[in-house]
Amino acid sequence: MFRFNFNSDNVSESIKDVIENPVVKCEEFIVDTDVLSKIKLKLCQSECTDNVSKMSDMKLIHKPLFEYESITNISHTDLKPNVYEGGYKIWECTFDLLKFVRDNVDICPKQILDLGCGAGLLGLYTLLNGAAHVSFQDYNQEVVESLTIPNILLNTQDLGKCKFYHGDWSSLADVIDTKYDIILTSETIYSVTNHNKLISVFKTLLNPTGCVYLAAKVYYFGVGGCIYDFEKLLVDNDFVTSTVWEQNEGVKRKIIKIQFKIN
Ligand SMILES: C[S@@+](CC[C@H](N)C(=O)[O-])C[C@H]1O[C@@H](n2cnc3c(N)ncnc32)[C@H](O)[C@@H]1O
Repeated sequence: MFRFNFNSDNVSESIKDVIENPVVKCEEFIVDTDVLSKIKLKLCQSECTDNVSKMSDMKLIHKPLFEYESITNISHTDLKPNVYEGGYKIWECTFDLLKFVRDNVDICPKQILDLGCGAGLLGLYTLLNGAAHVSFQDYNQEVVESLTIPNILLNTQDLGKCKFYHGDWSSLADVIDTKYDIILTSETIYSVTNHNKLISVFKTLLNPTGCVYLAAKVYYFGVGGCIYDFEKLLVDNDFVTSTVWEQNEGVKRKIIKIQFKIN
């Protein structure tokens, strides 16, 4: 059975983390020439080129390019609330949503937000397949710099259609003035404390005629998130939801489409 790496002792540990680690405010990550040269140089080194794999015609690295003191000693598969939120690992619902988008969603020429992007597969796919603009957001600046941007640069040298953001969802709308036609988000509802923040991002950043595609496990055992509770909250906030894909064998997973309710 799927379970996050928490047991009852480290659940109280994680509550302590939240108290001790206030959320990081959202900022745009500016890719200036220094940052670009640093990333490109590292990408050319053989230890990186040896680690490039291919998925749906996209080249990807799975290991971050750089190490950071701020998140050393945290396993990439663990979550440390308000410190590291899982962006270094590619979580399984990303593959569900990638396939769903490839087969069903018209992304051309749309404004897209990859919310909680991690390695950035979803946004990258849309960027390479006709999106007008793609914004990538991750909680961790470290993830954006050492995984998301390198993955984009492995596939295109043109970052003109992209923007990058890092920090907590509670302040994302303060730094973005775009409305998105499509928001793609995978494995982002595991923590109940984030549900209202996510809904507020949808309310402020989704184009009135746009939609969110959210991929998630049905239950996040050990941390409390559950897609049914999240859908109920969405309905309470004047959204309509529909299940567009589901997997009931093994770990139950779903993709839901979310739109504003039309009065
Ligand atoms: C479990 S990872 C999933 C990563 C990727 N979407 C995937 O499916 O592989 C959760 C993602 O949501 C982001 N995230 C989680 N909580 C967040 C918060 N409170 N504010 C901003 N981003 C957050 C993390 O940075 C990370 O990108």
